[in-house]
Amino acid sequence: MNHFDYQDGELHCEGVSLTEIAREVGTPVYVYSSATLERHYTVFAGALSTMPALRSPKEEAPLVAYAMKANSNLAVVRTLALAGCGADTVSEGEIRKAMAAGIPAERIVFSGVGKTDGEMAFALKAGIYQLNVESRPELDRLARVAASLNMIAPFVIRINPGVGAGGHAKITTGGAKDKFGISAEEALKLYAEASAHRNLAPVGIACHIGSQITDLTPMQAAFSRMRGWVEALRAEGLSVERLDLGGGLGVPYFNQPTPPNPADFAEMAALTVGNLGVRYTFEPGRLIAANAGVLVSRVVHVHERSDSGQKFLVLDAAMNDLLRPALYDAYHDIRPVVQPANDDAEIYDVVGPVCETGDTFTRDRQLPRLRAGELVAFMTAGAYGAVMGSEYNSRPLAPEVLVRDGRFAVVRPRPSYDEMIAREPLPQWLEPKGLRPRVALA
Ligand code: LLP
Repeated sequence: MNHFDYQDGELHCEGVSLTEIAREVGTPVYVYSSATLERHYTVFAGALSTMPALRSPKEEAPLVAYAMKANSNLAVVRTLALAGCGADTVSEGEIRKAMAAGIPAERIVFSGVGKTDGEMAFALKAGIYQLNVESRPELDRLARVAASLNMIAPFVIRINPGVGAGGHAKITTGGAKDKFGISAEEALKLYAEASAHRNLAPVGIACHIGSQITDLTPMQAAFSRMRGWVEALRAEGLSVERLDLGGGLGVPYFNQPTPPNPADFAEMAALTVGNLGVRYTFEPGRLIAANAGVLVSRVVHVHERSDSGQKFLVLDAAMNDLLRPALYDAYHDIRPVVQPANDDAEIYDVVGPVCETGDTFTRDRQLPRLRAGELVAFMTAGAYGAVMGSEYNSRPLAPEVLVRDGRFAVVRPRPSYDEMIAREPLPQWLEPKGLRPRVALA
């Protein structure tokens, strides 16, 4: 469910017309709905908290640590922070942004396969909830960093449960040949070793098997293995206080199987890994942000090739703004912002202006007939959209707008060309500062 709908034939977000936003802010532009963000968090956290089997020994509900990689815009994270969310982070930058948005350190998890010593030190000094350690060399470095700070590092070990799942090979993380986590066997050994280390506090285990998972079966398989490993650790006399079950729940991208709803997921989790006497953590990203955002773009023109008859809908958005179709062949629903007056349809290749054939959002898609100057919206673009944007082809990063109940605000402005140029200082041996360009600008 989301808060984008047609009102009087025009696509709106929480009562604000996308045409109006495009007129004021320009295109391409990302638009996010506060109500959808809040609703997704509340429904997910609510479903988990109604499961007595998922309560900690202290009666705490699971920690829902929003995976900031999905959308780390400060205003988006702040909206979720105010709703009560924690954060799953993968860099010092994300930890800093989470804290800047008001998420308390004790609700921040730090994951990732290549945390640097500096990042680990920063996380420890900030007092975050836990580091999710992914390998032996990382654990060795964490021990050294913690010792140098005279601190004790609370961490969980990410086990790769050997169950791969996800919407595309590039976002599957649970297989034995993926770079994430370690085998259960090695994890159990490391856990025992770390328990004896004065600067390390192994507090539990973690897993995450992939993203855009639309079927509970692989998750259930992974969770039930996790239960076995908690029991195995305890059988060795080791203490296990936390269980982090990752993110990965899929969202409907229109043409895909309907993903499981949060209530079914929570029930499956309670039945499979409930009542273990641990504090549970979940790390949803896409589920919270994807349907809370759209990318609005304007049609530059329609080009019909005379040789093949192929019709190209050329937009002012490109792969640098929304990379998912180029990188994962991802499907995004494309809707006209103004509902067409008739049923005329065309088959288009929808493309951007970047100089690569890969800059194709979709091929042979039937859409209402569109003309130059009209607006379209890429739906379900709130997760892994703006965050994966770049300035390839020297195209300014698309701005981001947050809507709340009839109002909107620019929460990341489009950089000006002057700002982009000023970001790249010329070394002294090239063009002395202040020299006028040799080519006169119009
Ligand atoms: N936790 C860990 C350890 C992860 O690696 C990820 C995502 C998540 C949580 C959040 O997963 P989610 O709930 O969003 O599925 N750029 C790709 C998705 C990459 C996901 C990477 N890991 C895309 O656009 O589809």
